[in-house]
Amino acid sequence: MGYPHKPHARESVVLSEHFGSAEARTLAGWRKRGGYQALEKALGMAPADIVSVVKDSGLRGRGGAGFPTGLKWSYMKPGDGKPHYLCCNADESEPGTFKDREIMRWTPHALVEGCALGAYAIGAETAYVYIRGEFTEPLQQMNAAVQEAYASGILGANAMGTGKRLDVHVHKGAGAYICGEETALMNSLEGKRGNPRIKPPFPAVSGVFGMPTTINNVETLVAAVEVVKRGAAWYKGFGRPDNPKSTGTKLYSVCGNVARPGNYEVPMGFPFRDFLHELCGGPLPGRKFKAVIPGGASVPIQTMEEAEATLMDYEGFVAGGTMLGSGGVIVFDDQQNMVKQIARLARFFAHESCAQCTQCREGTAWTTKIMERIRDGHGTYEDLDTLLDIGEQMTGKTICVLSDSCAVPVASGIRKFRHEFEALIPKKQGTAFVAAAVA
Ligand SMILES: Cc1cc2nc3c(=O)[nH]c(=O)nc-3n(C[C@H](O)[C@H](O)[C@H](O)COP(=O)(O)O)c2cc1C
Repeated sequence: MGYPHKPHARESVVLSEHFGSAEARTLAGWRKRGGYQALEKALGMAPADIVSVVKDSGLRGRGGAGFPTGLKWSYMKPGDGKPHYLCCNADESEPGTFKDREIMRWTPHALVEGCALGAYAIGAETAYVYIRGEFTEPLQQMNAAVQEAYASGILGANAMGTGKRLDVHVHKGAGAYICGEETALMNSLEGKRGNPRIKPPFPAVSGVFGMPTTINNVETLVAAVEVVKRGAAWYKGFGRPDNPKSTGTKLYSVCGNVARPGNYEVPMGFPFRDFLHELCGGPLPGRKFKAVIPGGASVPIQTMEEAEATLMDYEGFVAGGTMLGSGGVIVFDDQQNMVKQIARLARFFAHESCAQCTQCREGTAWTTKIMERIRDGHGTYEDLDTLLDIGEQMTGKTICVLSDSCAVPVASGIRKFRHEFEALIPKKQGTAFVAAAVA
């Protein structure tokens, strides 16, 4: 079966080039496309040299935070006498994000290669792929690719005939958003409840099984394969010449009220206006774009005016008042009520809170209750101030940022679409309040 949303054909299509090709899923097909050349090259290099190339490339983590990958790898100290681990974060549960599952569905060997290469670079012999429980087909593809890699000697005690040991294990999660948070992921991998851990200690010091660990997103690891294969200079060639901080290509998942939803790969710095109107086909017939959440549900909402002036890279999205996040682009048109949409997001976060931290457990639940009250026409003007106030108490005060993620769309929604909130507040309540105050 063909790939329904073929990313646009441009020279910047690197990671998604083989999406839709059944042959690319097999070891033979992957090898035909240059697969495992990067791993072979890496195994002939000193781990520190691989880290230097990745550092030089400017590659940053594609899981959400955008942390420089080479720098993260350099925190793993060689020769400490401890086992090191690589964890690949394949949980992909951020609403609006569906790129990692496509990498695993269509190019599973790219991820096996990325895991093996990354593990070797950080001094690990073992990599775990923590994959979301609902990902049935990606899981099958990953298991098949790992088996093929062992059977052909790419993985195992004598990886690619080098005498070096490299193991990749695929571990199925149970479908909890919080298990995408790196320390909750490690707890879950260890068989414990998926609660985030307090940092420090950071994973590079004490990670999975208490040992030095690096956690990387699926897209980050497959991008690292291309960096090692084609070089740092090639990778840096993608991006705005005036912004060396964002390099390479990026996969974006596009959903919502847009003519052509799907996955698209563009170079860093691509104009968001062209992306939405040309690549994604613009709004549905007879509709107008209204707003967009560009980086998964956890980042501030942009008005369409803000989005259309944005350049798609880490700094460009910040300049546009939001964040690149996970690259999950959720588009809303003029038929949508933003209060309803934000209430739905709040309910998601309340449902997914692990409930360890009071600010998150109570804050996400309270936010949801108030949002739904406003949505249903029973809100008050005071509720808007209460929401902003709760949001402040939920930000920067918890073990992980799930709590902040709930507060962010609410606060940006009230700031940018206050008229939609106010339109749902019964006017008589305002009058009653004034009357009571006067009396
Ligand atoms: C609540 C929460 C959920 C997260 N979910 C994911 C996820 O599904 N996939 C992912 O790669 N990163 C997720 N992250 C980010 C990870 O904690 C971590 O930063 C990332 O996997 C690091 O990889 P990178 O450096 O390659 O981006 C999440 C973070 C939080 C706070």
